[in-house]
Amino acid sequence: MPMRIEAVTKLTPAVHEALGRLLPQLNANLPMPDLDRLNRLLNDPDVVLLIARDGERIVGTTTVIVYTTPYWIKARLDEVVVDESARGRGVGEALVKAALDVGRERGAQVAELQSGRGPARAAAHKLYERIGFKIRDTDVFRISLSPSERGSGRRA
Ligand SMILES: CC(C)(COP(=O)(O)OP(=O)(O)OC[C@H]1O[C@@H](n2cnc3c(N)ncnc32)[C@H](O)[C@@H]1OP(=O)(O)O)[C@@H](O)C(=O)NCCC(=O)NCCS
Repeated sequence: MPMRIEAVTKLTPAVHEALGRLLPQLNANLPMPDLDRLNRLLNDPDVVLLIARDGERIVGTTTVIVYTTPYWIKARLDEVVVDESARGRGVGEALVKAALDVGRERGAQVAELQSGRGPARAAAHKLYERIGFKIRDTDVFRISLSPSERGSGRRA
């Protein structure tokens, strides 16, 4: 059976198992999202969770969010990951292209993603550039909104 990309509509045990296997290959330091988080993700109308299947086995995933700002309708790609055993066969490319199709279908004018620097992301950068993404010379700012982590912004 050939590889195919699907949008997840239901949190089946197979999807749950696959995310538990795939997400740590993207970032081993973050905890596995719990069921509440995964259900929130699937119930969010602006978000599409895609999976790649090789036969019945789920071998990759990405998430695409389409949102509107005064200037743009943007597609944001997050959490692109392919199982180590399935890499180098075009699964990543198919996932990213499917996410761009979701963006186009929902009226997005541009697509963006954020990726770390360094050897761990070399394959990802090559893939994104091959598809046509260009690196923008910009900085990403982040502040935690979790009460336990939020600083006052002033130095003690
Ligand atoms: C990035 C990733 C999703 C690509 O998935 P994939 O299914 O292997 O993707 P493809 O087969 O479509 O393309 C992979 C490309 O990376 C290249 N590649 C593989 N390992 C590489 C490495 N160490 N350095 C540079 N390029 C590499 C392949 O040669 C191929 O490019 P080419 O076809 O132009 O030669 C996968 O490597 C992965 O999950 N990595 C870990 C998680 C990650 O970094 N995610 C991106 C977060 S921003």
